[in-house]
Amino acid sequence: MKFAFTSLFATLAYTLVAVAQPPLQTTINFDDRYCVGSTSLQTTACSTGENGLITRGFPTFGSLPTFPAIAGSQFVEGFNSTSCGACWEVFDPNTGRSVFLTLVNTAPTGFTLCTDTLLALTGFNRTNVPNSIPVEARAIPAADCGL
Ligand SMILES: *[C@@H]1O[C@H](CO)[C@@H](O)[C@H](O)[C@H]1NC(C)=O
Ligand SMILES: *[C@@H]1O[C@H](CO)[C@@H](O)[C@H](O)[C@H]1NC(C)=O
Repeated sequence: MKFAFTSLFATLAYTLVAVAQPPLQTTINFDDRYCVGSTSLQTTACSTGENGLITRGFPTFGSLPTFPAIAGSQFVEGFNSTSCGACWEVFDPNTGRSVFLTLVNTAPTGFTLCTDTLLALTGFNRTNVPNSIPVEARAIPAADCGL
């Protein structure tokens, strides 16, 4: 009993620390390729392998519950990353809007979103949208993205 209790307490403490993490300051950019629902996940780093999304029953971008709110991210290190399918909340302090994104691929910095998703979040349009927009981001449970 004592061991079980200690282990449960450690789990709770760890969870509380994780929840209390301040949001990460990062940037977002956009790519229309993330807006195409028929695109196979075979074209991404999150294809097959134990952590791949095809392996977990999601063959295309459009098959993911949050689509078109999906993203490439620097937090996906490469093929078979344990961050494949991770759910992140991205908050735009300028609009006060946020979006839950399912990670599907790598990206050089921050997060790369479907253009329409980024415009809805930031309030920019295709004429005036900057190449890089500062945001706050935090990892949330995958269940919040329906995975
Ligand atoms: C993928 O990563 C997991 C660990 O997260 C590992 O067990 C597995 O062997 C890796 N490779 C493939 C092809 O699944
Ligand atoms: C984009 O937004 C700017 C600033 O609000 C506005 O002046 C411009 O007309 C908009 N362009 C389009 C194509 O909607």
